Amino acid sequence: MDGKSASQYQAWQKLEQLKESKESKLVLKELFAADPERFSKHSLIFNSSSPNVEILLDYSKNLIDDEVLSTLFALAREAQVEDFRDQMFSGKHINTSEDRAVLHIALRNPPVSKGGWKIDEPGAGDEVHQVLEHMKEFSEQVRSGQWKGYTGKSIDTIVNIGIGGSDLGPVMVCEALKHYSKRDLKTHFVSNIDGTDMAEVLKVCDRETTLFIVASKTFTTQETITNAETAKEWFLDAAKDKSHIAKHFVALSTNTKAVTEFGIAESSMFQFWDWVGGRYSLWSAIGLSIALSIGFDNFSELLAGAHAMDKHFKETKLEENLPVVLALIGIWYNDFWNAQTQALLPYDQYMKRFADYFQQGDMESDGKSVTKDGTRVDYQTGPIIWGQSGTNGQHAFYQLIHQGTKLIPCDFLAPVETLNPISGGKHHEILLSNFFAQPEALAFGKTEDEVRKELGTASSNAALVKSKIFEGNKPTNSIMFQKLTPGTLGSLIALYEHKIHVQGAIWGINSYDQMGVELGKVLAKAILKQLGNEKDVTGHDSSTTGLIHYYQKNRK
Ligand code: F6P
Repeated sequence: MDGKSASQYQAWQKLEQLKESKESKLVLKELFAADPERFSKHSLIFNSSSPNVEILLDYSKNLIDDEVLSTLFALAREAQVEDFRDQMFSGKHINTSEDRAVLHIALRNPPVSKGGWKIDEPGAGDEVHQVLEHMKEFSEQVRSGQWKGYTGKSIDTIVNIGIGGSDLGPVMVCEALKHYSKRDLKTHFVSNIDGTDMAEVLKVCDRETTLFIVASKTFTTQETITNAETAKEWFLDAAKDKSHIAKHFVALSTNTKAVTEFGIAESSMFQFWDWVGGRYSLWSAIGLSIALSIGFDNFSELLAGAHAMDKHFKETKLEENLPVVLALIGIWYNDFWNAQTQALLPYDQYMKRFADYFQQGDMESDGKSVTKDGTRVDYQTGPIIWGQSGTNGQHAFYQLIHQGTKLIPCDFLAPVETLNPISGGKHHEILLSNFFAQPEALAFGKTEDEVRKELGTASSNAALVKSKIFEGNKPTNSIMFQKLTPGTLGSLIALYEHKIHVQGAIWGINSYDQMGVELGKVLAKAILKQLGNEKDVTGHDSSTTGLIHYYQKNRK
């Protein structure tokens, strides 16, 4: 970024002018009418033969023309996006505040002998493949029933205990790839420190056949360690002998000392490294629950799909680079059109947790207000990410997207083929007809004339007419893929990961730390010590004190 902040780039300033001068001219209806080739001009296909993945990105329904687009690419060049990307791939410590490399791409990088990149960072080469080998061996033993619990029975239940990146990735992927899962191996996830989370899961677990996976990069996270201690006590209540822990607890962590102190042997630990960010960790040992659920071959395909997208991101020129295009269009709305949010709307029931996952992925990464050199930004950074699966969202919040006062850019995602054709049913065609219809309605809307024609005599009711107008001109991206395979999911996740990276690079922020989650944690620890006694409650504002006193007075 050359010491410049984003708003000082020439291209940034030109984009401000373009927004001013073109706002009323960027009308999708007119842009499409003027150019019959708009779809083919503004859509891209990502292809990979190994694994077999094809993704179509249609970005034609955006408020862009050639000049806007070329200025967005000029912005990426001025911000040295390619150089910053290459720094990440080469292991440079781009997470400057923590002085760490950012190498989730190494977790899905094949060995150098098989065409992978050579990365000079401790752990990022052979060790990755050694851990993968360990995961393969272990997951096969558990899935085949060879791994026995303390009474000699096979494992039939997995409980992953983790939070944030040590939970959301595995949860989202296990749900998305449920089609490929071993149905007689139940998988649960406990994340919340609210005891209800653990209590409800333990109710359906059998101590003799349950395997607990304690997933924590740091192995110090209060929620995870407290929940893991509860699971250990619950287990030992019946098993008694601590030596049985080895059969029922494994750890995924970078912190060997804390893991062994907890009582899990080093041999039952799956290692990863400080260059794996929590929200980028599903590709590491943190993905063990995924490998257990869908099998190691499918897990490998997930990694291969992500690697294929890494290769595309690394080697494709900016104009044809899917993550770059998504990032630049996002910046156009976020920074020049005052859009506050970005909706992710997968028309695939299996992807119902996709937006939840990228809430952390995007918001913890790019929710920053100072640049890497500590300067307060004078522009907007990360968007608010939200969404849910179609068509459910249509019956919940689409009203506001269509007719509300806010600009909400949306990404629609859908598979050409369903994994669950319903015999005699038209479910998938109905689903897809909605997937096609919503971006069309958002883009082209419905005019007053059309409403009047439709209403006939009732059009004398002016208020009714107004309420039925759709202004249109709402921007969307549409993403289609053949069907939801592990490889395709891997590519889609990596696509959004790199989008986040590119945006962070342009904003000049550190997308790879998360200092913003610290303050609340520290205050909660201090308050926990004061909860016992009313007179210990000191050092707070009157609201916080009042709330704590109310709790103390009313607890049973
Ligand atoms: O929410 C903060 C955070 O540090 C996330 O970045 C991380 O994914 C999560 O906590 C869990 O951390 P750990 O894996 O160390 O338990």
